[in-house]
Amino acid sequence: MNFENTLAFAQALDKKDVLRSFRDKFYIPIINGKESIYFTGNSLGLQPKTTQELILNELEDWASFGVEGHHHARNPWIRYHEWFPEYLIEILGAKPQEIVVMNQLTVNLHLLMTTFYRPDKKRFKIICEAKAFPSDQYAIHSQVLLHGLNPAATIVEISPAEGEHTIKHQEIMRAIKDNADELALVLIGGVNYYSGQVFNMRDISKAAHEAGAYCGFDLAHAVGNIPLSLHDWEADFACWCSYKYLNSGPGGVAGIFIHEKHHQNKSLHRLAGWWGHNKTSRFEMGKDFDPIPTAEGWQLSNTPVISMAAHKASLEIFAEAGIKYIFAKGISLSNYLLFIIDEINKAAQEKFIEIITPRGDEEKGCQVSMLVQKNGKAIFNELKRQGVIADWREPNVIRVAPVPLYNSFEDIYRFGEIIRSIAD
Ligand SMILES: Cc1ncc(COP(=O)(O)O)c(C=O)c1O
Repeated sequence: MNFENTLAFAQALDKKDVLRSFRDKFYIPIINGKESIYFTGNSLGLQPKTTQELILNELEDWASFGVEGHHHARNPWIRYHEWFPEYLIEILGAKPQEIVVMNQLTVNLHLLMTTFYRPDKKRFKIICEAKAFPSDQYAIHSQVLLHGLNPAATIVEISPAEGEHTIKHQEIMRAIKDNADELALVLIGGVNYYSGQVFNMRDISKAAHEAGAYCGFDLAHAVGNIPLSLHDWEADFACWCSYKYLNSGPGGVAGIFIHEKHHQNKSLHRLAGWWGHNKTSRFEMGKDFDPIPTAEGWQLSNTPVISMAAHKASLEIFAEAGIKYIFAKGISLSNYLLFIIDEINKAAQEKFIEIITPRGDEEKGCQVSMLVQKNGKAIFNELKRQGVIADWREPNVIRVAPVPLYNSFEDIYRFGEIIRSIAD
């Protein structure tokens, strides 16, 4: 599409936007008495207006029923987690039995590595991205130590080439090939949190399996942002959080995917808890663990219903909006933002802002990371003063995520105008 850098053009795009009414379903933070331009849905998604009602329902049922709410609440708590696979199958490209909503992201990373990282003398290496989100790095490092191994000889980090900001796909393929004989696990983000780069998960999964290793993905920045086909890609496992693009609230309940090919494999190790036990005999309180033969068998604890109510409120909006429209709008918003930044650079007659997110539609979602060459922090602070909530990463990167459910093309146009006014 040929974009134009005018308010009228941005408003015309908004008028044609099939998702335009969804913005009203969210609370937009107010700055200086005006709706902010909220570009940090990649960090904490906004609150749906229905969240309070769904949480309140559970609080009321708790007040009315006490423990009986497990069976008699309007949405009985004993089965509360069973709502989620249906909402998530399209978002993840997975079968319902491959999905379970539970715990928090880093906790789940550890649980999944307990199952899928079983190093032995021959296969012990883990491939991951250099500069993965720190929690992933700490989790991997500590798992390696837990197995009595030396992280330096075990963790293979793939970095961008000198002077570049994104990792070349061939480099990932090469690292897998070069380490094939010793490789136990490839564990990589679906979308890199810093650059916004989308990895080719299908090919990575295939290459990891050809090398004889398992393959898992941290989808924190991918879920609800880009199309996923976890089942068809044959990912062994994946995990994500729900508080970014899935708008389920700070520290909201997370989730995992385990490919169905592993569900019946009794030789896989796992840490067990009663909520993963066969539902028909769970309350017999027997001694021996009998795992549910689906992803649910990896659950440990009973369901955090209050947090799940917030998750449900948001996923109802996804179901109503339709993910194909969400993903398509995400790409259009990013492309418009890239165009606006290019226009700013052209007007400044220098590369004042360097885009580090890949430009191809297959390689990005709705996050654009920009390296500001001069006065980055001052520009970021001024953006904030003028009502733009974006994200700053040292040394000089501003991450901007125009989120399809509540951001508009006008938000992007106005963002460009503010940058221009600061740069002039
Ligand atoms: C890629 C990635 N991994 C891990 C985490 C940590 O998540 P949590 O604190 O929910 O465990 C985050 C949080 O933003 C993240 O973006």
